[in-house]
Amino acid sequence: MTEQLRRLGRRRGPAPEQQTGGLSEADAKLLEQAKARQRLEENFEAFPPRTERLGQHIKTMLGKSGVKGGRILEIGGRANPYKDWFPGFEYNCLDLEISEPGVIQGDITNCPEIESESFDAIISVDVFEHIREPWLAAPEIIRLLKPGGFTYHSTLFSWRYHPCPVDYWRYTPEALSFLFKDLRMMQAQFDTVERRRNLAGKGKHRVEPDAFGGFRENWRVFYAGVKEDPNAAKGVAALTARQQADAEARATGALDPSEAELKTVRDNPYPEED
Ligand SMILES: C[S@@+](CC[C@H](N)C(=O)[O-])C[C@H]1O[C@@H](n2cnc3c(N)ncnc32)[C@H](O)[C@@H]1O
Repeated sequence: MTEQLRRLGRRRGPAPEQQTGGLSEADAKLLEQAKARQRLEENFEAFPPRTERLGQHIKTMLGKSGVKGGRILEIGGRANPYKDWFPGFEYNCLDLEISEPGVIQGDITNCPEIESESFDAIISVDVFEHIREPWLAAPEIIRLLKPGGFTYHSTLFSWRYHPCPVDYWRYTPEALSFLFKDLRMMQAQFDTVERRRNLAGKGKHRVEPDAFGGFRENWRVFYAGVKEDPNAAKGVAALTARQQADAEARATGALDPSEAELKTVRDNPYPEED
């Protein structure tokens, strides 16, 4: 029995599943909601673990992008969580901290030591929420991508507070699309599979509620795109010029080129499982 059902049970006396009648309309609704939450938790348990599910999703999107091999960079993957998912690629990892041999120590918001256009694919999972200045990370990622290169980022719209080393941001699909607006967007959507993942649950997912009591309503969000335009922003240095051009476009009422693409995100905010 879930915590919600228990709580409702405590409030009303007998366990909710034993309550068959005599409930007010409001309590009947509460009971229905508690049961629905329990079903959602059980559904989540039916999905594969996070790394497996997201590894498969990245692989699917990578396949759709047409990038078939070469060099892949995982940002913030200090324990190399996705290393084995791309056997056709030379795997590299960049992180603020080194915990595994071969990890490049660096900051994705400013890494001039890494050559431009040196990766065929750049991915990250649960990293963008920890990047202090994500508006600097996107142009660096674009700079590091070869023309035709693929990028994928899964981050959080709603999640418990989890500093690693610092917890800065939460995102919508629109925010990610805006950061990567110099790319051709393949897809940017909410990912609700873990919505009722009970992080106060059992086994390896067991964690205490955070400082604010939070551990539920977990929504991911992801972005997948391709660098088609060889003249796309060339790193942080190109940002100011781009911002100026955007300001002029807004002043003249010109439509932001990403607006049409974002409309599809708004029309269909729920991801298909590939
Ligand atoms: C929550 S961990 C995610 C680890 C791994 N990607 C996973 O899915 O298990 C976030 C990682 O991002 C790294 N990170 C945070 N800001 C970064 C930055 N600006 N540049 C590179 N790595 C960064 C952190 O050091 C940390 O290893």
